[in-house]
This record gives sequence, structure tokens and C-alpha cells, in this order.
Amino acid sequence: MKKINCAVIGMGVGARHADFYDNYKFTKLVKIFEFDKSKWKKIKKKYPQVELVKNENEIFQDQNINLVSLASYDNYHNSQIMKAIKFKKNIFVEKPICLFLKELRKIKQAVEKSKINMSCNFVLRENNQFKKIKEHIKKKRVGKIYFAEGDYNYGRAEKVEKGWRGKIPYYSVTHGGAIHMIDLILWYFNELPTSVISSGNKLVIKNKKFKSNDFTVGILNFKSRKIVKITSNFGCVTPHHHALKIFGDKGTVIHDLRGGMLINSRHMKKKISKFNFKTNNMQKANFIKFFVDDLLNKRNKKLEENFRNIINSMLVSLAIEKSIKYNKKIFINYKKIALNE
Ligand SMILES: NC(=O)c1ccc[n+]([C@@H]2O[C@H](COP(=O)([O-])OP(=O)(O)OC[C@H]3O[C@@H](n4cnc5c(N)ncnc54)[C@H](O)[C@@H]3O)[C@@H](O)[C@H]2O)c1
Repeated sequence: MKKINCAVIGMGVGARHADFYDNYKFTKLVKIFEFDKSKWKKIKKKYPQVELVKNENEIFQDQNINLVSLASYDNYHNSQIMKAIKFKKNIFVEKPICLFLKELRKIKQAVEKSKINMSCNFVLRENNQFKKIKEHIKKKRVGKIYFAEGDYNYGRAEKVEKGWRGKIPYYSVTHGGAIHMIDLILWYFNELPTSVISSGNKLVIKNKKFKSNDFTVGILNFKSRKIVKITSNFGCVTPHHHALKIFGDKGTVIHDLRGGMLINSRHMKKKISKFNFKTNNMQKANFIKFFVDDLLNKRNKKLEENFRNIINSMLVSLAIEKSIKYNKKIFINYKKIALNE
């Protein structure tokens, strides 16, 4: 089978994309763009056969490249996605795919009009703990779900105080963090929230230039009357972790720093089964692998479904931010990509 020629923009987490393309039998890493020249020596040493370009256009305008990974700062994703579509490249983008509603609408329209496909790195779906929780739900071990909580506990405040997150024109902790928890919930429930009400504050992160909230909480309402609480907690004094609680009429799942538990009794220590599965580094690239395999095998239905999921989770994240901004309940229209009070 012919290999897909790939390029990567941004070599932070993008280095993982580069490693994957460089090693996978169906991909070839041909170009990298990294605007921090202090990283060039290391990149050239690691990938001597790869062209390190001086401008992103050398990637977009290269007709031999079929797939571009966008792992730049959040504020560049939208314009790079639009360029990739213009030059007919498939896109694997880091979350969040964009920062504003009008951008999301344009991305959706442009991808649907084009022949290209797009995926996003929702790595938690490939985390073994979260996969186990999916299995507990699917096998009806928690019964009928009525409430869930998903907490993105960043635990890396210094990255906002000193790094690019605190410097770019607009950074959203919801789009940058909670979106992973939103994605998990949509995956677990196979149902979309109809409305959102949220709140936020900035009481911990010291960087005065950082004007956004460092904590946001959104309450998502579903037609089935399920309720979900999602938080993005960038100032928390904990190690980085993702916490989940799923409450059903037959059982409860709790996952946090200490591992996971499935509880099927209202009595202490009865019917508690613990689970603690590790995820290896290889699995962290699975989302890219699935995308490449789907492209090669022309699994169009899967690619379209994946793209819809990406758009939907971004729209929920935007609804949380809009509800905070206007202090109003926001209703989500997925067909029109609209958020209404
Ligand atoms: N899916 C995940 O779990 C996950 C994890 C970490 C980061 N991310 C996302 O990845 C993106 C990058 O974050 P990071 O943690 O790798 O940051 P980082 O600072 O570690 O690395 C980013 C690198 O990209 C370079 N860069 C940024 N914008 C660029 C541009 N326009 N052109 C060329 N080079 C550019 C920077 O110089 C830097 O070397 C962010 O959007 C972030 O939200 C996703």
C-alpha cells in the first residue's frame, strides 16, 4: 500500500505525532514546521531525513503532502485548518480545533464541502480506565444513568503563569481542558445535551495578563433528563488528573487519582470492585493510527461520525463559555451550529 505523506506543525505534543508518522508502516514524515529555532538542532538530529521548513506555507502548498498534524498553540488552529482545507490536506488537529463559534461554523461547512477529512486528538477515549468505564456502562452495570461529573484537574498552573497559555490573546480553560471530559461524556451517553448553564472565576492563577477564568463549571441538561457537571480546574493543587463519577440506578462508577471503583451496593465495602488499568505511550497515538487507517481504507461513515463528534463537543464547550459570559442558560442547536439564550 502507498504511504501517506505527512507533516507536523508545532513540536511540543506534536513530537508524538511526528514519532508516529515516522514509525508507522503506512505513513512517511516528510516536513516539520516549528517556529522556535532553539528546537531545530534537536529536531534535525532526530529526523535527519525530514525537511525542517521555515514557513508553514511550505507544508500547505506542497502537493505531495496528504496529511497535516496541527499541534501549534490554540490560537493558530483555526487559520491553519482553513489553509489545510484550501490546499486539500487531511487534518489531524490538537484540541481545541478553534476558539469561537463563527470559526466552528466555517470549519464544519468547509470540511463538508471538501473531500478532506479531519480528526482531533481526544486521547482519553484510548485510556484504559475510561475504556473500562465505557464497558461498565455498556454492560448496564450502573443501570439507568441520571447524573455524571467530569472534572479536568489541570494541576499545572505554572504552564498558564509562565507559558503560552497565559500569553496568547484568548485562552479558554474549558476549550483547552474540559473539552476532554465533554468528549468522554458524549461518547458514554451517545446523547447530546440540549442546554447548558455555567459559571467561572479566576482566583488562583497569578498571571495578570491572563484575563480568562482559571476555573469553569458547566451543568449540561439532556432530553432524557440526565444532568452532567463538567469542571475545568486549572488552579487546583493536585497532580494533573481527570476525575469522573457516573451515577445510575444500579450502580456508581468513581474514578480519580486513586484509581477506579464500581459500586453496586448502598452498604460500605459490599460489592465494590476496584479497577486500575495503566495506559501505555503507544496507545496515546492510537487516535492518529485510527484516523490514518480509516483514511487508507476509505471508511467514510466512520470518518464522518468522528468529525461530527468533534464538532459537537466543541459546540458544547463554546456553550459553557457563552453561558458564563452572558450569565444565561444557553440552548444548543447542533444542526445550525448555533447557541441561543
Ligand atoms: N490532546 C492532548 O491531550 C493534548 C496534550 C497537550 C497539548 N495539546 C494541545 O497541543 C497544542 C500544543 O500544546 P503543547 O502542550 O504541545 O505546547 P508546547 O508549548 O509544549 O509545544 C508547542 C510547540 O509548537 C510550537 N508552535 C506553536 N505554534 C506554532 C505555529 N503556529 N507554527 C509553528 N510552531 C508552532 C511552539 O514553538 C512549541 O515548540 C495545544 O493546542 C494544546 O491544547 C493537546
